[in-house]
Amino acid sequence: MLPRCAFSVCHVLVLVLCLSAAEDFDWTKNNHGSFYYGTFPAGFSWGAGSSAYQTEGAWDKDGKGLSIWDVFSHKKGKIQQNETGDSSCEGYYKVKDDVSLMKELKLNHYRFSISWPRLIPTGIKSDHINEKGIQYYDELIDHLLENKITPIVTLYHWDLPQVLQEKYGGWQNISMVNYFNDYANLCFEKFGNRVKYWITFNNPWSVAVEGYETGEHAPGLKMRGTGAYRAAHHIIKAHAKVWHTYDTQWRAKQKGLVGISLSGDWGEPVDISNQKDIEAAERYVQFYLGWFATPIFHGDYPQVMKDFIGRKSVQQGLGTSRLPTFSPQEKSYIKGTCDFLGIGHFTTRYITQKNYPSGRSSSSYFTDRDLAELVDPRWPDPGSEWLYSVPWGFRRLLNFVKTQYGNPMIYVTENGVSEKMLCTELCDDWRIQYYKDYINEMLKAIKDGVNVKGYTAWSLLDKFEWDEGFSERFGLYYVDFRNKNKPRYPKASVQFYKRIVSSNGFPNQREVENWRRKAVETCSSSNQLLAAEEQRSTAANILRLIHDPLTSHMEMVTEIVVPTVCTLSILLSAIFLMFLLRRRN
Ligand code: NOJ
Repeated sequence: MLPRCAFSVCHVLVLVLCLSAAEDFDWTKNNHGSFYYGTFPAGFSWGAGSSAYQTEGAWDKDGKGLSIWDVFSHKKGKIQQNETGDSSCEGYYKVKDDVSLMKELKLNHYRFSISWPRLIPTGIKSDHINEKGIQYYDELIDHLLENKITPIVTLYHWDLPQVLQEKYGGWQNISMVNYFNDYANLCFEKFGNRVKYWITFNNPWSVAVEGYETGEHAPGLKMRGTGAYRAAHHIIKAHAKVWHTYDTQWRAKQKGLVGISLSGDWGEPVDISNQKDIEAAERYVQFYLGWFATPIFHGDYPQVMKDFIGRKSVQQGLGTSRLPTFSPQEKSYIKGTCDFLGIGHFTTRYITQKNYPSGRSSSSYFTDRDLAELVDPRWPDPGSEWLYSVPWGFRRLLNFVKTQYGNPMIYVTENGVSEKMLCTELCDDWRIQYYKDYINEMLKAIKDGVNVKGYTAWSLLDKFEWDEGFSERFGLYYVDFRNKNKPRYPKASVQFYKRIVSSNGFPNQREVENWRRKAVETCSSSNQLLAAEEQRSTAANILRLIHDPLTSHMEMVTEIVVPTVCTLSILLSAIFLMFLLRRRN
């Protein structure tokens, strides 16, 4: 076997302060059962996902307008290594290649997003419609359908047209509701004869909190304690308006469904016998998933959000709550605007009660919740610092959705795990483990009666991971970003996921173990192939650098020294291994 070139970059535990608290907690109280062998209901839909800014590239090609992510990523210091999604996976030019990867996986559906500024460069429909943008999505949709892959299309995966940000302040402004509705209407008109699953917003929690509260994401605003609530308020209204537009103008003819994709970590009380922790964990989930799901299913924000933010606002001497309110008409307009619920889920936290003083200067979404997040140091965390593998949390979250929102039809729109490697690694056994366990918990949830109709592995390809740049890889397929052609290589998890898809679940222990063994066996030859390819592109880079004296020292280290050391160590180990085998024979 080849040595694992796994220099996993600093897995500092997220909440250091919490680790000491973790010591006195008996983790064993959470006993989460064993593996369940069985299959999914007939017709269960298996897929993989992506989003426009993360994969398309072609950021300024064929008449596309700028999005807030184009502008944000070009500002120095916003993204790891100052990377951008300018070319990313070049998905814009690789429709056929990528659909053939989906076929290889035997997928039933593919989830992707439409870039609003690619269709409408300024975001305002009456300004100009970009025909080339329409053509691109036409081609993608047609090609998917020709290959019997159902498109699940997200209208907003974070790439707001920059003009709307500059002119109106983006989601801080209520005028976004009508602009978004016009854009959605255009999509229904152009693509609705073929697209039957529409997702209005992807993970509005991130848009609101990371875009307008912490500023880690575009547009990078830090309007603590107010910005996120206002953005979310307008997003919920925009979602409802688009659902009504579809319902009244398109549904009878096109017969599709309109939903929203919400993200939610699960929150488990640290001490399940402590009422305060139980309430804090409930609050965690309500401030996360419930913030958006409760208005959409029940017409208004969760009571606990209204209570906590309202009380703190009074203590801060404000005349009204920082959480905006819906009028009675708005409540009934918003309630029930969801034909299916998309769930994006990756991880879990333990939660304990923690009071924060309510001074005006310290107001924020995070302190409004009065809780602290903890992690179990034994949870695997192979990639992103925030992403611990806790499969049992998935089943709990799905059951929470079932009981809180009247057992809606659910599509899992995102679930997966990343890696942070300086070297190439196609033998992703930790991802196999993650998928195996999370998908199994979803199967258990279905047995519990949760109405899950489909699952989307996140993601099809490695891609631009927002403020983390290309440093975190979520793909089933590895993308060599240093090569201009952005070639894709299957990781071992492709083989494993493919088996789950074709068996519609987990037939029995022997077979599942076999899948895993075979997947890991085949990946080492792909690893060698890639190492050789990388050697070639490293040599090309050296030549380029020799001719370009301005290239920085840093580039030299990341593009040449690290890959060369990695490639050499892989080759040396292979030689050493062959030597050992020879000696044994
Ligand atoms: C949720 C986002 O929707 C997606 O774009 C991102 O890649 C994943 N989280 C992983 O961070």
